[in-house]
Amino acid sequence: MREGLVMERIPISGPSITQREIDYVSEAVKNAWYSNANIYNERFEKAFAGYLGVKYAVALPSCTSAIHLSLLSLGVGAGDEVIVPELTWIATSAPISYVQATPVFADVDEKTWCLSADSFEKLITPRTKAAIIVDLYGNMPDMDAIRDVARRREVALIEDAAEAIGSEYRGRKAGGFGETGVFSFHGSKTLTTGEGGMLVTDRDDVYNRSLFLRDHGRKPGERMFWNTEIAYKYKMSSMQAALGLAQLERIGELLRAKRQIFSWYQSRLGRVKGITLNYEAPHTRNTYWMVTAVVDKEFGLTKERIIDLMREKAIDCRPFFYPLSSIPAYENSEQARIARTRNHYAYRTSLYGLNLPCALNMSKDKVEYVCDVFVSILKR
Ligand SMILES: Cc1ncc(COP(=O)(O)O)c(C=O)c1O
Repeated sequence: MREGLVMERIPISGPSITQREIDYVSEAVKNAWYSNANIYNERFEKAFAGYLGVKYAVALPSCTSAIHLSLLSLGVGAGDEVIVPELTWIATSAPISYVQATPVFADVDEKTWCLSADSFEKLITPRTKAAIIVDLYGNMPDMDAIRDVARRREVALIEDAAEAIGSEYRGRKAGGFGETGVFSFHGSKTLTTGEGGMLVTDRDDVYNRSLFLRDHGRKPGERMFWNTEIAYKYKMSSMQAALGLAQLERIGELLRAKRQIFSWYQSRLGRVKGITLNYEAPHTRNTYWMVTAVVDKEFGLTKERIIDLMREKAIDCRPFFYPLSSIPAYENSEQARIARTRNHYAYRTSLYGLNLPCALNMSKDKVEYVCDVFVSILKR
């Protein structure tokens, strides 16, 4: 496919759905009721925990609810501080405010674009209760260094692996590096249930507390309508669980497709001067949820301008996340005010970064077309 041809828009992201997914969801619609109501949720949770190599997995309506339950289960509340990296979706930090704690915005590492261990350590105070590490765009931070800081300074880690299913650090899967790990199955994600999320943990207390909190303050099997606390209704439907199970059975294929799409981009853009693509450290396996390019400021183009020009050619891109401390939601946050002048790498990376189309239906031809347009925009 080349410029000038009439063609459909190229979306930024989207799933791969086969007959297996259709069959499982149809089967759930027909049969997952009465005494079988929970059957797909149980299968999905068990298979997910097995895939990750963790003890427990709890299926939830979203990753946001998984972060909320993680904070609650770890006892984070009013007066506590929780460290988050600047470059992430607000879903990582919003639940910190749900529990009346304060988000503290840390800088990212220049290469991985994930939480910098150094920035993390510097921001720890006696009020720091937890940190949420983000596996951004499928990459992973320097887990050895971060876990060392967390252990020495007694800070609980929550791993936001929303974007990183199947990624690995020293052979261990993303999501298994904190007290809890959380995943998103939003329609844009590599493994989707339309909307949905998962909380994983090895801790019995966190698992039991999560089950209790997601069912309006009632332990599984406890007396009906006799709730002992005011809590939440955070459950995944069996149709979503069936879809998730089918997707999980195809996870190897989905991850190979993501890495293939990135490798097509890399072979076209990897040697173009002034373009930096997603990084993969030697001991990390990046699953490239979002192919991302950071361009040199010498091109004289902001990410917004590039995105507008790409859109004119029927190519949908997304801006790199804006630093959380820069967005209006945190306008009145004292922590954000301080972070704005401190977190240089996050601010620099975000300014010239954008996500390129990497839906699971991308072909080599389409990637080449996107690359041709992108390079011609930068070099005009
Ligand atoms: C890093 C990160 N954290 C959390 C979320 C929230 O996921 P959900 O939309 O399932 O609540 C997302 C979703 O895009 C995300 O990218």
